[in-house]
Amino acid sequence: MNWGMKNRLSRIIKPASGRCVMLAVDHGYFQGPTTGLTDIGKTVEPLLQYADALMITRGAVRNWIDPAAEIPIILRVSGGQSILKELSNEIITTNIDDAIRINASAITCSVYIGGEYEKQTIDNLSKLVDEGEKYGIPVLAVTAVGKEMVRDARYLGLASRICVEIGAHIVKTYYTENFEKVVAACGNVPVVIAGGKKLPEKEALQMTYNAVSDGATGVDMGRNIFQSDSPVGMIQAVRAIVHEGKSLDEAYEIYEQEKE
Ligand code: 5RP
Repeated sequence: MNWGMKNRLSRIIKPASGRCVMLAVDHGYFQGPTTGLTDIGKTVEPLLQYADALMITRGAVRNWIDPAAEIPIILRVSGGQSILKELSNEIITTNIDDAIRINASAITCSVYIGGEYEKQTIDNLSKLVDEGEKYGIPVLAVTAVGKEMVRDARYLGLASRICVEIGAHIVKTYYTENFEKVVAACGNVPVVIAGGKKLPEKEALQMTYNAVSDGATGVDMGRNIFQSDSPVGMIQAVRAIVHEGKSLDEAYEIYEQEKE
């Protein structure tokens, strides 16, 4: 790994804990003005101080994020589909020059293993890895799950391992039972979990706790933070689990206190 790649990775995965809390707000790229993200700037403003990185598209970063903000950007460089059509029909929408102009600390796309356009999305990832390796920019591969797929350790392990073999530097996947098998499938490549649909806060914190206990490097969480009744409380609680090794009860207490 070259110096630039290591430097960018260490801005996202904090060397002190070896863990990370990424805040994902890229949902609009295929689902439009998602609840909580109509004004992304307003939503993320109180959260940025607790996030290690922000996952976002180039349009959103330019429209809603202050360029002076001290937050590493994980730039979503793929899209081309919408919730009205086949989700796996994803293309690369942003070239590496624009990612460099934005000063991206990482670039990201989704890979739809088992989806109709599986090969196209693997091709997207492989091209990003080539560009990322050239310029020292890590690539985060998202194991997106099509409607027909079962989110079990067998499927997520398969999808995650393919991303590793293609050259991803970080894998983002979903939490499932036997999650340690998904982590093992990725070898030394860090694995983070998406939060998925909004859950009751305690369940989302339990999932975070289980994921890091099973070997996840952290989270790349969106709706379970910004759709919470206390987004600041939630991100602080998630952070306490990920970076400080707090228990579920301790983390929930942090959320409740901030909510009050
Ligand atoms: C969409 C994404 C989202 O960033 C990801 O799903 C994380 O958000 P959430 O925690 O809301 O699931 O990659 O493809």
